[in-house]
Amino acid sequence: MDRLTNGQRERVESLLAQMTLDEKIGQMNQESPSIVGGFDVPFTELIEMMTDGRISKEEFEKIMSTAKQDYHEDEIRRGGVGSLMVQDPVKVNELQKIAVEESRLGIPLIFGLDVIHGFRSVYPIAIAEAGSFDTDLMERTARMAAKESRASGVAWHFAPMLDVARDARWGRVSEGPGEDPYLGSLFARAKVRGLQNDRSSAENYVAACLKHYIGYGAAESGRDYNTVSMAMHVFYNNYLKPFEAAVDEGAQTVMAAFNDLNGVPCTVNRFLLRDILKDSLGFPGFVVSDANAIRECVVHGIAEDDEDAGVKAALAGMDMDMGTEIYFKHLKKAVEDGKVPVGVIDEAVRRILSVKMWLGLFDHPYVSEEAMNRYATLPDEHVRLAREAALKSIVLLKNEGGLLPLSRDRKISLVGNLADSREEIIGAWAMSWREEDCVSIRQGMEEMFPGTRYFPCGGPEGDIVMDDVLRAGEYGDVIVAVLGELVSMSGEASSRADISLPGRQRELLEMLLETGKPVVLVLMNGRPLALEWENLYVPAIVEGWQLGIEMGHAVASVLSGEFNPEGRLSSSFPAVTGMCPVYYNHMNTGRPASKSKFTSRYLDAPFDALYPFGYGLSYTQYEYSDLEVADAGDRLEISVTVRNTGSREGRETVQLYMQDAAASLVRPVKELRGFRKAELAPGQAKTVHFELKKSDMGFYDNERNYHLEDGLFRIFAGGSSRDCLAAEIRLKF
Ligand code: BGC
Repeated sequence: MDRLTNGQRERVESLLAQMTLDEKIGQMNQESPSIVGGFDVPFTELIEMMTDGRISKEEFEKIMSTAKQDYHEDEIRRGGVGSLMVQDPVKVNELQKIAVEESRLGIPLIFGLDVIHGFRSVYPIAIAEAGSFDTDLMERTARMAAKESRASGVAWHFAPMLDVARDARWGRVSEGPGEDPYLGSLFARAKVRGLQNDRSSAENYVAACLKHYIGYGAAESGRDYNTVSMAMHVFYNNYLKPFEAAVDEGAQTVMAAFNDLNGVPCTVNRFLLRDILKDSLGFPGFVVSDANAIRECVVHGIAEDDEDAGVKAALAGMDMDMGTEIYFKHLKKAVEDGKVPVGVIDEAVRRILSVKMWLGLFDHPYVSEEAMNRYATLPDEHVRLAREAALKSIVLLKNEGGLLPLSRDRKISLVGNLADSREEIIGAWAMSWREEDCVSIRQGMEEMFPGTRYFPCGGPEGDIVMDDVLRAGEYGDVIVAVLGELVSMSGEASSRADISLPGRQRELLEMLLETGKPVVLVLMNGRPLALEWENLYVPAIVEGWQLGIEMGHAVASVLSGEFNPEGRLSSSFPAVTGMCPVYYNHMNTGRPASKSKFTSRYLDAPFDALYPFGYGLSYTQYEYSDLEVADAGDRLEISVTVRNTGSREGRETVQLYMQDAAASLVRPVKELRGFRKAELAPGQAKTVHFELKKSDMGFYDNERNYHLEDGLFRIFAGGSSRDCLAAEIRLKF
């Protein structure tokens, strides 16, 4: 790996030369603490059981207090473990001490964890943060998460999640940057930089893990873990792009996806792991399987038994086994039987040791006493960043008659169980947050609007409390209804076949509207929702996602107008679920949807997304004019003028799209190729300039040849993927 010094590389080689086969295979084994006693499941499974509601938080705590955890100390001592999932710094030090001082070669463990959108400070879920279109922010939140987790001994984040995701039924859309490969690639780069690049001290950075490699976001019908079939040109031009960008940025590790791609599970997919990732992209780090995925190759029907699965995975280029102990138990025999060359093992171990070396674990294996207490109270700087991220991720979807913002002396009836929750603002996968850091929407609203009164009324689950509805209608001069999804309704294993507001929430909205008071709908959710009805009847809609610890302050700030919303959608919202997958950069057809009969449309649903990618309103308005496109040799120079025609200062996200109008393969109707922020005072106009390199205007075919084809191109600029000015230009490459 190039990022090591010669001395470090020699150290890796000298260790490798001293290692027994058992010790080598030990490095390829990742364990998580198992709960022994009443409940015999891995710790991660137990966490999952709590997150998905199979057990309650109280039950979880009870199990944890009585059960004994097996941290695999003996295996560590024998050099049989390379990595563990642990986040308690005291435990980290204890286990690390065994590895460093009691194992024969003293190779440190690498502790990994799902730190998807923050560690102690939790930021907006990724689908929301991507909508900030603010790459500097994305980098800063990653850097802060790295610092916080490293102070707990977690040196490896199973993040960023880079799955291009276009089907909102899939619960894991929440964890990634949305539907667009260009925005996804910038997000990927920003996250890798943030996690990895501040190497001024071993305490400031972690190794990123790009996941899930690859195609997981295209699971058929949005059902988690489902099969994935896609044309290779779609794969190269879309799904591979963010991974390619992140590898180029120096990402240290990759996690293979659960799904098969065109018939071969990613876990044992030599073409994906070796040919594309390691050979063609030159990825120097190591690949870890997803949890239990090697064993699942048996169920998948691709391996006869555990050993067969382990052999296939190792040969395909899978360097580390997450959670099954199949390598630990079967790989030695497979090598001795000649099924796996020892060179394959050496390559994997070299990669793993190199990442540990790069992380400084050999020289700084422990968490210092000072680091452990560093964030006893969350520093202001961390809270401020969480608030900034939350503010910039909120998307104003509708604002009829300028109902918003609300003046601070309004009497507000705040409605919805979600409004009073500190847990539901956090989003799937966050595990290290503390309740004391969280600001619920209720708290934020009460601080901002002294005339707020809270009437729970109902939520994603359970019944409607009629008394509350009546009282809410009587009290406020405006109703703010916080509705949406529970955290457990998105994330892993949380696909939904109907993505409208769950439970009786639409009915609740109807009742609230019947009170005659104006209703503002604030959404809390982990995926795009189907909001056709809400868009028709509710005058103001704010997309609040799950924004992390500062959600309450951020929502109140937007509702009061203290902050002028500027967030955009990183994923299109369908009008109804049956339109899924819906995404702006879809392929053209010979019969694009129109009102006439024989076109590509539904009889019973609109043909456009309800709210498209890039969409988001502000308390001011913008007008675009003068789109100009000039051929400047190796690039296009593009300019467009944007004017703030409203009465408030605002920050507009000016977006640039292109279309290859006639190519040897069908191309998308639009593709994002750039964006810029424009800060505009009322009445002010600015001309925004873009440079589009011609070399970036091509596409890959099914054999991964890159094409730049002469001919007609369309260039679009505007405030969303739908509302754009268009120009045409003929190009010769
Ligand atoms: C998820 C991964 C995660 C891993 C470890 C799996 O179930 O798919 O995203 O990193 O568990 O917790």
